[in-house]
Amino acid sequence: MVSFELKCIECGKAHDIAKPAYACSSCGNLLEIRMDTEAALKRVSTGDFKKRPISVWKYREFIPVGPKAQVFSLDEGGTQMIECRRLAQEIGIKSLKIKFDGTNPTGSFKDRGMTVGITKAVELKMKTVTCASTGNTSASLAAYAGLAGLKCVVLIPEGKVALGKLAQAMMHGATVVTVRGNFDQALDIVMESSNRLGMYVLNSVNPFRIEGQKTAAYEICDQLGGLNPEYLYIPVGNGGNSAAYWKGFEEYESMGFVPGHPVIRGIQAEGAAPIANMFRSGSSELTPVRKPETVATAIRIGKPANWKKTVRAVKESGGSVTTVSDQEILNAQKSMATLAGVFAEPAGAAAVAGLVKDVELGMLDKSSIVVCVSTGHGLKDPDVAISQSVKPMVIDATIEALQKLLEAS
Ligand code: F0G
Repeated sequence: MVSFELKCIECGKAHDIAKPAYACSSCGNLLEIRMDTEAALKRVSTGDFKKRPISVWKYREFIPVGPKAQVFSLDEGGTQMIECRRLAQEIGIKSLKIKFDGTNPTGSFKDRGMTVGITKAVELKMKTVTCASTGNTSASLAAYAGLAGLKCVVLIPEGKVALGKLAQAMMHGATVVTVRGNFDQALDIVMESSNRLGMYVLNSVNPFRIEGQKTAAYEICDQLGGLNPEYLYIPVGNGGNSAAYWKGFEEYESMGFVPGHPVIRGIQAEGAAPIANMFRSGSSELTPVRKPETVATAIRIGKPANWKKTVRAVKESGGSVTTVSDQEILNAQKSMATLAGVFAEPAGAAAVAGLVKDVELGMLDKSSIVVCVSTGHGLKDPDVAISQSVKPMVIDATIEALQKLLEAS
């Protein structure tokens, strides 16, 4: 077997890894990269692998780009794993770590996938890249396209993209197109038009994106000193990231770097929960949510393109996908900010919200090793943050006025 193969997740048909492809030419299902772990291990066995600092490209031997590929990187990955003592105490568990991927160069986990995706786009000699996005993918793609000198076209749903993300996509020089419709409709347009318009799609249906994002799981194991968490809580929108984490954990386990793998708890917002609905009803088919709504606009998705990958991943891990309400998300966002110093956007607080709910329902052994993934930075969505916070108080420019105010509060 060659080191990396591109195969259909359903029928297993092999596809040419050196050509742009997102879906199986026989059955239409998504494609995934399969790595020959033995060959990969051989590549790292003689090097300085264990001593390298964590980052996406620490794991270059496990990433399917050619040895001569020009890598386009903003030094992504290597993000903090924050020990949250006060937050753990508040929630009622022994310890809690947050993997804060909001500290990536453009403020979300998307950069992990984009450094690989854009490196691949250039390897494939593509000139224009595109995506549909609830915001973060477009911000990240725009930044990396600029770095590599590619044209970038992003489609976003009208009126529902957080201000910071929009500013990023515009500032990085993308052609920003607002679609009168939601994310699912924008993604349909992207998928249907990309071939005809000669654009390379960098949504998470692109298997190379997943290969970048899986490095977050490797990093978590390295940061735990060669252990895997027992539970991983992660927000689910289009379903790419949860599948990517599972791929990373599984590969790291099968290469012998860690003894096991975590149970994955995927968290969706109540108003945009088609995958959680499947788990609740026991259905094996996805029923799309036609009008998804949530304060966590990043995961406002009703027809997740990666649902099959995610359902399979979460089930294999022994976990499930459940929901939290918008209020639970906002409460978690506030607690993370005030008790752990982590300012996450609402979707980036969904994992902690899910953990809080599980603890309340008594679903978790309180001494478990728990990691929550926070996927995006709070500065992305200043409107939600400000609307949830106490407004600044205004005083005259005197010490007495300050003293009076402090005594009164
Ligand atoms: N958290 C944040 C902050 C996101 O931006 C997204 C997805 C997710 C979680 C969910 O990840 O889709 O892989 O399950 N944002 C995409 C975007 C859809 O366009 O930026 P997923």
